[in-house]
Formats: sequence, structure tokens, C-alpha cells
Amino acid sequence: MTHNQKVRKAVVPVAGLGTRFLPVTKTIPKEMLPIVDKPSIQYIVEEAVCSGIEQIIFVNSSGKEAIEDHFDTNLQLDAILQKKKDPRLIEEMKKLSQMVQITTVRQKEPLGLGHAIYCAKNLIGNEPFAVLLGDDLVDAKVPCIQQLMQAHQAQNANVVALMEVPKDQTYLYGIADASAQKENPRAYDVRHFFEKPKIEDAPSNLAIIGRYVLSPKIFEILETTRPGKNGEIQLTDALNTLTSHEKVIGLQYEGLRFDAGDKIGFLEANLYFALKRPEFKDRLSKILRRLEL
Ligand code: G1P
Repeated sequence: MTHNQKVRKAVVPVAGLGTRFLPVTKTIPKEMLPIVDKPSIQYIVEEAVCSGIEQIIFVNSSGKEAIEDHFDTNLQLDAILQKKKDPRLIEEMKKLSQMVQITTVRQKEPLGLGHAIYCAKNLIGNEPFAVLLGDDLVDAKVPCIQQLMQAHQAQNANVVALMEVPKDQTYLYGIADASAQKENPRAYDVRHFFEKPKIEDAPSNLAIIGRYVLSPKIFEILETTRPGKNGEIQLTDALNTLTSHEKVIGLQYEGLRFDAGDKIGFLEANLYFALKRPEFKDRLSKILRRLEL
């Protein structure tokens, strides 16, 4: 890995069909489902931008155009807001469309997360890059991907975000076999990852959360990575090959994570982010207390 090269680009895979959220995802990309009043993908893009990312590469598929449109200008809407003389909304829409450079590439077949990342190869080129998965929302003082970027800089390593999960949930995640570094107990030297192991096969309860900082070496590896779990080309398998070429560490990041790809996690995220907003806090708390009765 080239020493201390700055991470400027982020890959955000958004090609998934979102079957877990049917029927709403029949026509609406799951990434566009709102957490309060912003689509969940906007939280992901804002996290990347706040961390210093300059270019976002969406790996999408047909029917997902609304995601790009969300970060583009909408001249018709702008004209209506101008007529209405609503400076707050005019400013908010301007900020949204100017937030960051967006590029998209198509994943033409749903061949797995590893394959989705591989689709961004030519747009990344020969530099380290971030990966953010849209299902994982993390609220943190220092944005989660920035924490990984700092660890990447400090240790000149590939970095994967880790979180402790209950043992009976290991089958939902990539699980790390890793040891905490003596000088930095939140960082782990990784021996191996296991993709979605059964409880009895899980080497720990340290789960991969959808944030990675990777070297371009991963593309070379993905090119020859065979389909793994569920017949898909798994990023986790490529990471295992990567550990024999370059340093790969796990970072137990600081922050609160929501699984927006799960219905309950999605509802929880909505309540959490709404309760953080002063204009909703009191009224929503009252409603929640009332509903509990
Ligand atoms: C992917 C990865 C898995 C990781 C998870 C985090 O799985 O394959 O290793 O733990 O993201 O969200 P997915 O949830 O896309 O099936």
C-alpha cells in the first residue's frame, strides 16, 4: 500500500433490490426511504463529505436513478421555490446539489458486494478509497468513516469497521478472528474474516459494519475471487486474500449504529434522529409515552 496516500474517493453500492422492504421498494429505491425528512442515502453521503471525501461513486442498477437525481439540481423545483420566496429551502436545495461530485457506474448483474466494489475499479484507479454501505447508519462525534481514515493514515493499513454484536446474531455479519493491539485497544490485527457464520463457528462477536478503507490491491484480488457464501462474490473473501499481501486491521469505531436495512432498525433510526431534532423532541416523546399506554 502506498504510504499515507490521502483517501479522496468513496464507493457506495446502491444496486440492491431491497426485497426486505417490499412492497415500498417495488418502485422506490430503499436508499430513498426517509429517516425523518432526508433519504437514508443522504446521511451516508453527508458522513463521507464531512470526513473529507471529494468524490462519491454510486454503484447502481436500473431503476435507481432517483438516487442520483436527489443530489442533482432540479430546475423546476428551484423555479417554484424562487417564486415562493423561500430562502431557507432554496439554500438547502442548493447545498444538496453542490455537496460533492457524484459519479455512477452500473452493476449489471447482482453478483454480490465484492463484484459491486469491483465495478468501481476504473473510477478509483490506483489510490486507497472508502466504502460505505447504505444499510448502516452511524451517528458519531467524529464520522465513522473518518475514524477509519485516521486509522488508515496512522497505520498505513486497510481498515474495516467492527462492532460487538450478540453472539446469536453472528449469522448476519462478517465476523473477525482478531486480537486487540496492545497500544491501541480499539484497533485489532485481523487473522481472518468469516462471512455470516453460524453461532458455533463464529470466532468472536466482532462484526463487520459497512465501512471500509481499502487499497486498490483489492481490485486485483476481486478479479479472481470465486463466488462464496450464497453463490455471491464476497468482499469478505477478498479481504481474507488481502491479509496475506497487506496489513488489514479492524477498528472498533465510536458511535451509535442503526441497521436501516432492517424494518425495526429503520424505525429505530427514524425515532432516534427525530428525537435529536429540537422541533420534534417534546411532541414525539409525548406521543411515544401515549402509545406505550
Ligand atoms: C455485508 C458484508 C458483511 C457485513 C455487512 C455489514 O453483508 O458481506 O460482511 O457484516 O455487510 O452491514 P450484507 O448485509 O450486505 O448482506
